[in-house]
Amino acid sequence: MKNTRRLNGSRLLAVLLLTVFFLARPVFSATPAFQYNIVSVRSLSGGSTVAPGQFVVVRFSVSNPQTGTFYSLATDPAWTQTASGASRLFLQIAWDTRDFTNANSNINSLAGSRGAADPIPVNALAATVTNNGDGTYTATAPLPIPSTAGGTGEVAMEGHPAGPDATGAFTVRVPVKSVFKYFPITGAASVARRQIVDINKCMVCHRPDGTGVAPRLTLHGNNRTEEVQVCVVCHNPDNTDIAFRSTIPKVVNGVTINENPVVQVGSNSYPEQGIDFKRLIHGIHASTTGFRRNPLVVIAFNGTVFDASTLTRFPGELSNCVACHIDNGRVGTFELPMASSVLGTTMNTRSSGVNANGTFVINSDPANDVKISPTAAVCSSCHDSGEVTRHMVSTGGASFNTTQAALNSGAVKERCVNCHGAGKEESVRSAHLD
Ligand code: HEC
Ligand code: HEC
Ligand code: HEC
Ligand code: HEC
Ligand code: HEC
Repeated sequence: MKNTRRLNGSRLLAVLLLTVFFLARPVFSATPAFQYNIVSVRSLSGGSTVAPGQFVVVRFSVSNPQTGTFYSLATDPAWTQTASGASRLFLQIAWDTRDFTNANSNINSLAGSRGAADPIPVNALAATVTNNGDGTYTATAPLPIPSTAGGTGEVAMEGHPAGPDATGAFTVRVPVKSVFKYFPITGAASVARRQIVDINKCMVCHRPDGTGVAPRLTLHGNNRTEEVQVCVVCHNPDNTDIAFRSTIPKVVNGVTINENPVVQVGSNSYPEQGIDFKRLIHGIHASTTGFRRNPLVVIAFNGTVFDASTLTRFPGELSNCVACHIDNGRVGTFELPMASSVLGTTMNTRSSGVNANGTFVINSDPANDVKISPTAAVCSSCHDSGEVTRHMVSTGGASFNTTQAALNSGAVKERCVNCHGAGKEESVRSAHLD
């Protein structure tokens, strides 16, 4: 009786508040056992600018912030499980920060690499990597920065160590926050890429301890983790899912799926899909609420079908742009106009030749890509009804079937900002947040 009485009134309130605080407290503070470090990015001759035609040389390490020591990548069991795939560590070399395209990377000439606009991959656990003996390692890119590149490049470091399972065997892929470093290709200093969203806002739902409404933001087999500036080196305006498509139809749950970008089978049509981040992330969340008329479908690794409409519903209001975007209440990164360097989004790479195994010969020339003009690419990733996309074209000057050259020359010119620009009657802020 006494105890019950004590819990009445303000004490009960205090206990409740403490409970709410306990449940809602951030869990980002636990010190991780692994940290990636990019120590330096240089050219082969040692300069801090890696000019077109030169090879990128990266010095890196993996440290343990709990003990302040470095991991031996050659002997530590966390890093030697390469045969099973439980240990993986890669450096991805991308350009440029005005908007990544990785144009003319030539990565499709490398064994095991396929992509329309992927960065240059460097296996950081390969035998060719130099052990500097001080906890750091040095790796050299297999391909040079192409002669056509300019501006600022980025090295992204991603992958996972192996952790012990219940039997003590090192089979568990442990997520580690991905990191990155910029380097100049032309010019003396690096220019950082624009920052649009705040990863800490994403992690309110995608909690790192796995207790959120959505899974931890560690994608592609726990390799790419909680760093948007690493996602975007691949999820750039020129990249699509073409590498994982095949002309050979397959049957999933009794439904025949044809991944050929030019053929539709039955009521299922899965056209080649752009994976540009400014479309992909809106498209995923808008498909979960049914706001998108046509759910976003991406053909993923091993030809699996990623249909975003099958995911858990986005909680709260989809029109609440500031759930993800950086905003100070007056100026937000979701508003128009976007920076003039933002490119249109490729929806079709015009890859047509077919390999013996049914996959496509990838056309990685961005000049002939079929693009959506950039503002329409963003807005239509949620607003995808025919009525509204026709408004974007007829009133807005947008195109869903253009090229980057037509956008650059002004032959295709969007006018959205005249009516939806910051401060205008139909501004993006007032349309969504008022
Ligand atoms: C090294 C390149 C690369 C990086 C880095 C990368 N992705 Fe991807 N991602 C791809 C490619 C290529 C596809 C399309 C084919 C596929 O689905 O695997 C894709 C597809 C996806 C898809 C849709 C289907 C699927 O496979 O789940 C999601 C969601 C996704 N990526 C999220 C992310 C996020 C979030 C990040 C950063 C934390 C990220 N990706 C980092 C290359 C990358
Ligand atoms: C208000 C909650 C919320 C916020 C904020 C949020 N998401 Fe999500 N997200 C979800 C839900 C719910 C799903 C569906 C989860 C499922 O069923 O797997 C999802 C799915 C995803 C997926 C598909 C793959 C996966 O892990 O399920 C990606 C990628 C993703 N979100 C990225 C992001 C990024 C990047 C941000 C920040 C820019 C973000 N999300 C912010 C709720 C949220
Ligand atoms: C679930 C998270 C999420 C929500 C909600 C969201 N966005 Fe985004 N948005 C993103 C991500 C991720 C990007 C790409 C970020 C990057 O490229 O660094 C993006 C990019 C953009 C861009 C392109 C900016 C640029 O310079 O490239 C615009 C414009 C935009 N969003 C508008 C909106 C509007 C308008 C809303 C609300 C109606 C909204 N977004 C809601 C995640 C979100
Ligand atoms: C993350 C998804 C998302 C993105 C991206 C997005 N919107 Fe919206 N938008 C919404 C939702 C949800 C609503 C509310 C619809 C409703 O309440 O019926 C909305 C409403 C609007 C409205 C008001 C329509 C009306 O009938 O009142 C306008 C105008 C608008 N959006 C313009 C834009 C423009 C321009 C862009 C691109 C810069 C954009 N939106 C990008 C989700 C989005
Ligand atoms: C001449 C002015 C004007 C221009 C230019 C313009 N819009 Fe609009 N837009 C409007 C008006 C007015 C509405 C209706 C708003 C409402 O219903 O509250 C609208 C509505 C929208 C909506 C929301 C539609 C809905 O019902 O949910 C989207 C999305 C949109 N516009 C995108 C764009 C894009 C993208 C461009 C540029 C490619 C563009 N608009 C150019 C005036 C314009």
